[in-house]
Amino acid sequence: MIVALANQKGGVAKTTSTICLGGLLLESSSCLVVDLDPQANLTIGLGVEVQSGQLTTYDVITEQAEVLEAVIPTKSGLSLLPSDISLAKGETELLTKVGNFLILKERLEPAKAQFQHILIDCPPSLGLLTVNALSAADAILIPVQCQFFALKGLASLLETIQSIQRRINPSLRILGILPTMAEMNTIMTQDVLASLQKRFQDIPVFDPVPKSVKFAESNLAGEPIHHYASEKKLVAPYKAIATFITGELRRGKKTRSVKRGE
Ligand SMILES: Nc1ncnc2c1ncn2[C@@H]1O[C@H](COP(=O)(O)OP(=O)(O)O)[C@@H](O)[C@H]1O
Ligand SMILES: [Mg+2]
Repeated sequence: MIVALANQKGGVAKTTSTICLGGLLLESSSCLVVDLDPQANLTIGLGVEVQSGQLTTYDVITEQAEVLEAVIPTKSGLSLLPSDISLAKGETELLTKVGNFLILKERLEPAKAQFQHILIDCPPSLGLLTVNALSAADAILIPVQCQFFALKGLASLLETIQSIQRRINPSLRILGILPTMAEMNTIMTQDVLASLQKRFQDIPVFDPVPKSVKFAESNLAGEPIHHYASEKKLVAPYKAIATFITGELRRGKKTRSVKRGE
């Protein structure tokens, strides 16, 4: 099961959600997390400093290394395909390759035999790297920050998903939208949640992840939230998605198509 965490907006908790979900999936299965962002926040957030000579996502997508040669263990228990700024160069190098949107899918193939779940942390853009992630993925999870302009850009993300479903990867499903950094007692959060339900009626909206400084602290500690904080309300939304991924998706639910929000 390959899940891409994508939203071209930055700062919506794609990386944090990758770490939290990955950590919970590890409780019942094996999980590889892939850093597909040249900013390498996932790599840094798992406490890894890429040293010279360390193979990264760049080497894998430019076919200079096999994925399993580049994967490293982290103290969280998650296996990581690390990244660094060279991935930005990698994206440019892919531009001239034939079938360049399918390279990640092809390069991840050997990891599928080794790991039950692969989570791909996407960069904040709808460029070639994100298209590669969506072409390789079985499902996409869309973190959305409960903030002003949260829904801005969602329509173009959904259009991209539809194009990929139509042209490249018909079995790509939308797992759902994950509202993050929710402050349930504010009008803004209530407003965002109501708008999501109204505008994207055929896409599941998961229970929101509350806003808490514990998430930034857990990132600094290089640990998923359930290792770091005992508050059930912080862990429960991620737990529900982990259960959903290991259960419902593994049984292979029918493909969900996207209806564009107006
Ligand atoms: N639920 C949350 N509450 C408060 N801060 C959060 C929460 N989730 C993530 N953050 C923080 O928000 C910032 C952006 O999160 P990040 O996962 O890096 O987003 P993205 O990968 O989408 O750019 C980080 O500093 C992170 O620690
Ligand atoms: Mg990120």
